[in-house]
Amino acid sequence: MTSTAAHVQIAPSVLAADFGRLAQQVADAEAAGADLIHVDVMDGRFVPNISFGEVVVDAIRSATSLPLNLHLMVHEPDRLLPGLVKGINDQVLVHAEACAHLHRTVGYIKEQGCQVGVAINPATPVSAVEEVLPDLDIVLVMTVNPGFGGQSFIPSALGKLRRLYRTISDNGYEVQLEVDGGVKADNTARDSVGAGAGILVAGTAIFNREQSVAEAMAALRDTVSGVSPGND
Ligand code: DX5
Ligand code: ZN
Repeated sequence: MTSTAAHVQIAPSVLAADFGRLAQQVADAEAAGADLIHVDVMDGRFVPNISFGEVVVDAIRSATSLPLNLHLMVHEPDRLLPGLVKGINDQVLVHAEACAHLHRTVGYIKEQGCQVGVAINPATPVSAVEEVLPDLDIVLVMTVNPGFGGQSFIPSALGKLRRLYRTISDNGYEVQLEVDGGVKADNTARDSVGAGAGILVAGTAIFNREQSVAEAMAALRDTVSGVSPGND
């Protein structure tokens, strides 16, 4: 427990952005103080939806100086990694459930000079990442079943976050915890940070018709101000 609140990183998910003016929306998020840009690649196989691939990822990378937090919801991502992993600033996240040889995939991403993360679905236990934990920069705990924006936060993910946070602290690993899905400027964000999350992904909470991106970012930032990861 610390007395000064650590900086919580906010990663707006462009899945909820207006794709007719994607570059502007990314620029708005950066101007509003986003720390990372969360980019959801979906293949229609690992998840039911198809979002976009390499060409659009390249366009997003060109529209910002922020690191991309690249969330690959694709089956056997090894096939697509060479085209998707280009910026050494990228943080590349693959799903444990989608990789037959997770250790090899993690190693490949590290060899490209990128930060590497592994995502786990709500029904996937912490043990799915334990053996590769020392190699990781990020573990992404999904707080919805992946595939769609605008779903409700699944509270049972908080227990998993706490267990991971404890394992990481006990072993002195340098791994950040990230949450994705249903995170808003309310208890979902506060409780996630309290349970150990240092990176919050937010799609519809940032890109919506009710607020500007700047207003939405400020509200989310305000909600977690003073809360340090793992402080609950
Ligand atoms: C869901 C995606 C999320 C999505 C989150 O499968 O991985 O990143 O954009 O959207 P919200 O914040 O609206 O739940
Ligand atoms: Zn995502």
